[in-house]
Amino acid sequence: MASESVPTSGRWRPTGGHRGAVSRPRLQGRSARPARVAPTAPVTRVPRSDSGRGRVVLDVQNLRTYFFTYDGVVRALEGINLQARAGETTGVVGETGCGKSVTAFSVARLVSEPGRVISGKILLNGVDLLWGLDREARYRRIGTTGRVKVSRNFGEIRAANQRVGSVRGRGVGMIFQEPTQAMNPVFSISDQLGESLLLHRGVEILDGLLRADRVAPPIGPIVEEGPGIAPPKRGGVHTSPEIEQALELYLNAAAQGDSASIRSTAADLARRMGLPSVATELVQYARTAGKPTARLRRMAMRSLRRVHLGAMQRRYIRHLRRVEVLRQRLNGVYLEEMKLERHNRVGIGAVRVRMRLEKLRHFYFGIRGIKRRMYRPLRNELFWRTVEQLEQVRIANPAQVARGYPHELSGGMLQRAMIAMALSCQPTLLLADEPTTALDVTIQAQILDLMRQLRESVGTAIVLITHDLGVVAEVCDHVNVMYAGIIVENGPVTEVFRRPLHPYTHGLLASIPRFDQPDRDLQTIPGAVPNLIHPPPGCRFHPRCPYAMPICKEVRPEPQLQGPDHLVACHLYGGAEETSPAEGEGGEVVEGETAPADDLAEPLVPPPS
Ligand SMILES: Nc1ncnc2c1ncn2[C@@H]1O[C@H](COP(=O)(O)OP(=O)(O)O)[C@@H](O)[C@H]1O
Ligand code: SF4
Ligand SMILES: [Mg+2]
Repeated sequence: MASESVPTSGRWRPTGGHRGAVSRPRLQGRSARPARVAPTAPVTRVPRSDSGRGRVVLDVQNLRTYFFTYDGVVRALEGINLQARAGETTGVVGETGCGKSVTAFSVARLVSEPGRVISGKILLNGVDLLWGLDREARYRRIGTTGRVKVSRNFGEIRAANQRVGSVRGRGVGMIFQEPTQAMNPVFSISDQLGESLLLHRGVEILDGLLRADRVAPPIGPIVEEGPGIAPPKRGGVHTSPEIEQALELYLNAAAQGDSASIRSTAADLARRMGLPSVATELVQYARTAGKPTARLRRMAMRSLRRVHLGAMQRRYIRHLRRVEVLRQRLNGVYLEEMKLERHNRVGIGAVRVRMRLEKLRHFYFGIRGIKRRMYRPLRNELFWRTVEQLEQVRIANPAQVARGYPHELSGGMLQRAMIAMALSCQPTLLLADEPTTALDVTIQAQILDLMRQLRESVGTAIVLITHDLGVVAEVCDHVNVMYAGIIVENGPVTEVFRRPLHPYTHGLLASIPRFDQPDRDLQTIPGAVPNLIHPPPGCRFHPRCPYAMPICKEVRPEPQLQGPDHLVACHLYGGAEETSPAEGEGGEVVEGETAPADDLAEPLVPPPS
């Protein structure tokens, strides 16, 4: 799994590489400074917003993804065009096996073997993630077997992964169809969410800890400040009057059991500490009813003091912060280089800095004995931030779930934990692959609402993949209807639902049960999605289409504009014959015809443009 903003499996602390006696690596400002980039080459411009719509965050152009199997080449995506705009939800619908998940994996550049993205452009905020793709692999047909030999250039693939990883960075979050794909079974949920949080919001978290350390009550019994009381010595015994006052209010609220005032007083305490996760912790403590006030007071004090850092811990957190800042800067350098389309200029210097960062991380996590004490405050903080994220996805007992392991959770809970992981980085682009399919209806609504909130507050562009047209109608602004690796119709949701043009869209809509038409028979689309090793020639839908014409078996229809923003790829609208499926009688179904892969008109890999 990629280690950037796509939710990561694994743990948040790297395995200690340097154990035992290690000389302390120095972090010199000079070597850490990113290479300077001269703004010479033209920058790929992100299209400006038109007609009040958000800017284009993701622009996929003519994307092809194939799987090179022993049976032959699976042409999973055949020239996909897709746009996602800031603050909008773009739906992708279609039957199982149409290529929806492969689209999401291709955009995140996570297609696994034996698959490869073989051509196209994926512009993420104007930066092409597929730059240099033609150097990563060569393809050669093996005789007339229909099979293809792929020769990979692993050096280029590694370099591309590093470039893409740093650009993708905090930008892309992904919710996988299968939650087990995103979770590592041997690490607890809090470790896995914590890793993601530290990777994407590390500087913010470490800053918070250092800030809270300055106001945290020191370790020791609490003594009220007041006239006549001597100022405390080091290792002290007092707490600031404001914090003590806020603590009393919180304890009163907890004694009355009023959850609204518990929340507000806990939030007030957290604000005074400068650490939002303290509020989550205090609310959790107060929830376990029946605690005597003295015990709750002790627990609350422990919570306030968990950020009280010792000298070594403070040094460790400061160093770790420096490492995180350097990593961000390095990602910035990659981004600049990719914008300027000078990818090769990030050379040996950057690689050295990156190696040094890795060494530093290993060093700080790898010291036996003091290691646990060093990262305890950070680990506590990540734990409570994880609880906060889990609360947001409406998990009932978040602290318990955070301590648990993936196999201890039900499918729906695991799905929600993964959604929490994807949302925690507040990505600019969220790829959600069937996010609510495994959830109860009530939870579905809550999750969709959460995604809507994220879209509105952060302006995230959401690509929502689903086979549920009801969900599309409810939350999407735009919809892309996909069939057998091709987008056959796309446009604004209201337009496509009111005036569906493609026979496949018609079929999908006709198969939805309607309350307002109880006498209507549910219709199905005859046949099944074809085997994509031998996709039907011409229009891939023709073996199932009731309106198929002779031309449909030979010529692939190109997308035609049929209204504002409404595109449809069908010969019925290309001037061949003007019969709308809405008006037509329903013709003959052509039985499945397939063409051998070698007969396809287009070359396997088109020459780079
Ligand atoms: N690892 C793989 N190896 C071979 N073919 C694959 C692989 N993953 C997906 N495919 C093929 O890609 C096509 C699209 O699959 P997918 O994107 O998972 O469909 P869905 O629309 O249901 O998400 C299918 O024909 C599937 O057989
Ligand atoms: S009418 Fe022809 S082009 Fe249109 S969907 Fe049917 S088979 Fe395809
Ligand atoms: Mg899928």
